[in-house]
Amino acid sequence: MNRLAPLRPILELPDELISQIAAGEVVERPASVVRELLDNALDAGATDIVVRLAGGGVRLISVEDNGAGIPSAELPVALKRHATSKIRDLLELEGVGTMGFRGEALAAIASVSELTLLSRPEGQPTAMALDGRSGELRAAARATGTTVEVRELFFSTPARRKFLKTDATELGHCVEALRRHALARPQVGFALWHDGRLLEQWRAHSGDDALDRRLADVLGTDFIDASVPVHFTAGPLVVRGRAGLPDAARSRADQQFAYVNERFVRDKVISHAAKSAYEDVLHGQRQPVYVLYLEIDPTRVDVNVHPTKIEVRFRDGREVHQAIRHSIERALAAPRAGQADATGQPRLGGQDAATAPTDTATRPSGMSTWAGPPAALASSDRTSSASRSSSPSWPSWRQSRMDIGHPIADLAALWRPGESSVQPAAPHTVNEAVASPRWTPTHLAGNEPAGTPSDTHHDPSHDTTVWPLGRALAQLQGVYILAENAQGLIVVDMHAAHERIVYERLKQQLDEARLGSQPLLIPVSFAATPEEVLTAETHAQALSELGLDISTLSPRTLAVRAVPTSLAQADGVELARSVLAELAQHDASTVVQRARNELLATMACHGAVRANRQLTLDEMNALLRDMERTERADQCNHGRPTWRAISLRELDALFLRGR
Ligand SMILES: Nc1ncnc2c1ncn2[C@@H]1O[C@H](COP(=O)(O)OP(=O)(O)OP(=O)(O)O)[C@@H](O)[C@H]1O
Ligand SMILES: [Mg+2]
Repeated sequence: MNRLAPLRPILELPDELISQIAAGEVVERPASVVRELLDNALDAGATDIVVRLAGGGVRLISVEDNGAGIPSAELPVALKRHATSKIRDLLELEGVGTMGFRGEALAAIASVSELTLLSRPEGQPTAMALDGRSGELRAAARATGTTVEVRELFFSTPARRKFLKTDATELGHCVEALRRHALARPQVGFALWHDGRLLEQWRAHSGDDALDRRLADVLGTDFIDASVPVHFTAGPLVVRGRAGLPDAARSRADQQFAYVNERFVRDKVISHAAKSAYEDVLHGQRQPVYVLYLEIDPTRVDVNVHPTKIEVRFRDGREVHQAIRHSIERALAAPRAGQADATGQPRLGGQDAATAPTDTATRPSGMSTWAGPPAALASSDRTSSASRSSSPSWPSWRQSRMDIGHPIADLAALWRPGESSVQPAAPHTVNEAVASPRWTPTHLAGNEPAGTPSDTHHDPSHDTTVWPLGRALAQLQGVYILAENAQGLIVVDMHAAHERIVYERLKQQLDEARLGSQPLLIPVSFAATPEEVLTAETHAQALSELGLDISTLSPRTLAVRAVPTSLAQADGVELARSVLAELAQHDASTVVQRARNELLATMACHGAVRANRQLTLDEMNALLRDMERTERADQCNHGRPTWRAISLRELDALFLRGR
């Protein structure tokens, strides 16, 4: 650094630059603008709000409300920094009941866009429009209420604009902002248009079931069916909402909505409390779903801790934690219709009675009618177990094989140098020998269909010496395959291993342009988000390169018409959804090249055998043989080991057995 550079005089920054700097905190992307404008409309008492977007919100965001309006004389003030009608002094700040109070949102947005403010309060003969750039005021036409139009976001700050993602991604964030507001205000009607298409419309509800109806509008009736009502009062605190049943838990925390006095917040106290309420009924990384509304005296919570007000600080975090936790525990414990069977036994959460835990000690206190653990724990949820912490032992055959690409027959000799006289089967014979009549991983992964049923198990001594990963013995907990080789025990994480095999195969097929597409006899349609529809349309080419044909049936419905041949048995809808989610992250046409591996990994995950699927010994052996033939099969796509060996020596040591 040049310490001798002449100091420049201290000057006050121009207003515009101050606003642009402030905008950096408040306006990160189009969705931030949507959030601020919705807040303003709600503060103005609107009961009907229409949002119109173009180009993912980058080209245009317009929010139209039927609220109180702004008198024409105040329009220029509304765009000034630190100008607000919502608080007057510190006391009012401390008990603030409106969404806004900082008086900076409109100024910030206007400094990084072309903003027009059009408003007509009741009693004013005509509406007036203010151009944010020129300051020009003109008469306009509209009924009582306000319209804010924001065009070309970040046009004056190209550096910021560069950080924006694809239109589909930005649209997705805008939709999310709208959902959050809609869930907070069932009595307000919302509509969302994008590029001239109506994407969402939620009518205003009234009456006792207004909230449930809005929850169903936004989250689907599935959410209502799979959740229980929450209503809990703890002194001055009230918690309402709905808590998802353990079965409804998801792999991502994308359906957890928490509100404090109607404000959507992301709060550690609340999320931790919710998590602990589910502690005993959810396992692994499963994420509960919930929508919780906390009502609290505004003086007991500070909403002025974050520029976007998404974080709050409670005066007494413990009381909030307890209220949230108890509210959910009570809700989950309350008896539910259809919960008990004819014998009065508690329902086992959709799980097989035979495999459900019977240990009542694990129930949360007071949960006498606990509905049991989630039906199917995805295998990926179990992969964090401590057993994976040490590195796998790497037999020399594996290394050699990867490096020089020997067929497996030669490797048995490499691996057990003293026994090179054993005549191992040729690779293709191995494959045939273990093929399953019902299902083989190989087949699922798109290889040639496997041959005849096997006589796999008739000569164990032969198997264990020839096959590095040995001979399958059993399946453990629906997750692991136990196999025996000459050295001891092999434990394979079946989903992780199969995922790798499918992945490598897809990669090879894509390289060789062999990734065929198989039309579905009956296309499957599914309810899609606007983001998914837009992604499917913009990335039709990329999808087809991946062997997927997804077409638009309506603004909210997509149909899967073809899937990659190799994944013919995967769930088409799940596959489509995850590939679209992956594609939404990426720009333009080169997507398949650049995002190839992530895309293939996503697809492989859907093609791979799920946990809790019972495999026959033949199927297990087929998987082991596939692993032996697949490059890099030692690690799953996420870099975790797919198998481990426990030598006889280690087993002996466990049992203090000297040999
Ligand atoms: N849709 C609207 N209807 C009526 N008045 C509005 C509307 N939008 C803005 N205003 C007026 O303009 C003022 C400035 O809005 P702005 O969003 O900048 O600040 P704020 O809402 O007071 O605080 P914050 O910066 O926390 O959002 C508001 O205080 C309100 O009086
Ligand atoms: Mg505001």
